[in-house]
Amino acid sequence: MTLKIDYTNMLAPAVAGGVPSDAWERAGEAFTAVMADVRRQRQGGTLGFLDVPGDAALRAQTERFVASRRGLDHDIVVLGIGGSALGPIALRTALRPPYWNLLSDRVRGGMPRLHVLDNVDPRTISALMAELDLTRTLFIVTSKSGGTAETMAQYLIVRERLRSTPGIDPDRHLVFVTDPKQGALRPLAGAEGIPALDIPANVGGRFSVLTPVGMLPAALIGIDIGGLLDGAGAMAKRCASDDLARNPAGTYAMLQWLADTRAGAHIHVLMPYADALRDFAGWFVQLWAESLGKIQSDGRSVGPTPLAALGATDQHSQVQLFMEGPADKTVTFVATLDREGDLEIPRAYPDVKELSYLGGHTLGELLDVERQATAGALAKRGRPNMTIALDRVDAHHVGELIMMLELATLYAGSLYAVDPLNQPGVELGKQFTYAMLGRPGSEAARTEWNTLPVPDPKFTV
Ligand code: PA5
Repeated sequence: MTLKIDYTNMLAPAVAGGVPSDAWERAGEAFTAVMADVRRQRQGGTLGFLDVPGDAALRAQTERFVASRRGLDHDIVVLGIGGSALGPIALRTALRPPYWNLLSDRVRGGMPRLHVLDNVDPRTISALMAELDLTRTLFIVTSKSGGTAETMAQYLIVRERLRSTPGIDPDRHLVFVTDPKQGALRPLAGAEGIPALDIPANVGGRFSVLTPVGMLPAALIGIDIGGLLDGAGAMAKRCASDDLARNPAGTYAMLQWLADTRAGAHIHVLMPYADALRDFAGWFVQLWAESLGKIQSDGRSVGPTPLAALGATDQHSQVQLFMEGPADKTVTFVATLDREGDLEIPRAYPDVKELSYLGGHTLGELLDVERQATAGALAKRGRPNMTIALDRVDAHHVGELIMMLELATLYAGSLYAVDPLNQPGVELGKQFTYAMLGRPGSEAARTEWNTLPVPDPKFTV
């Protein structure tokens, strides 16, 4: 079986706050225009992420490098941020056992631990560096642009540590993952003899998890990258259909867009009922937010706000808000159908009603029933929700889910009339950072920075 979406609870009038039926009836027609737009973009060569699952040469880059490292590393550290980090984190959580880095070498089957920095907090980096045996550590420096301040700072610190550790050849502990031509890392790789794997020029950061950005760290810890790519490829094929009823990514994008623009549901929650998919929700949040929060050509700001939640944990936290707070959300549950490793709850305390009813059920059953109950309760309150069902969290299904959400983001970009592949909004903050740190060429940003109001003691408590 393959990934399925049940969107019964997204539609009004059955669910009062859902997508109005007249809008849904016309959605098929609107989707034909979206697909025509996507085809134009594809011909323009900008949608490289769609070609990645079938790119055997790209996959071979990862496989060759992984074969060359067999048995060498106890730790893998990804230096990167944003799209260069969230994918590897999501894959590790989804496809390796929980607490992977805490498991003994024996339980990990000799596979390395995987650390992904995703920030420049010195406490985290110092603590990690103190823990590592550098002679048995590989650092993957991942940056599409090859110039991101946080990643370059991480790299400079690591490089210095490697160079000052006696008996280490630094270049044997580094690999770059970057654009084939652009940016600072590519020429450094050539000059210093550091291996470098490609992020195709037409694949941007948050769409890059299936390139060596995600595949290299995943393969190094034994994740089945073939399964991921096959699943993604199968989903891309499924989503080639102009028929909305057969296109899961189209259905998801269209429902979310209509819920936002026609039913006031501006906040889109992704709530897996599986610990394995907790960080997948974080990956989705970046994808949806950075791709769709934009200014349209007429100057109007648009874009839904994504939110990550986890079932059943968030039933004791955010679900109160989802049920009774502003009716401005859709909730997408992710259900996993298999019950592998399930635990039966022992029967005990027949006279204690809070405990006795649990006996004989399983934890998997409890989790699943709680998901159904939450979906039903939201629907009853007129709160739109849908459920993506996966047979299990394995490489194939995770690949399907990645491609489905990447394609949905692309379609949603067309519906919102924005470019989902760029991120002009983060530029000004970057320029201000460069100006304050004295990067050459940032004088104009320094001048602009100086026009900002200075902190006023009157407005400080
Ligand atoms: O999605 C994006 O493009 C961004 O989030 C980038 O991944 C992030 O800014 C890091 O960029 P780079 O990979 O160029 O270092």
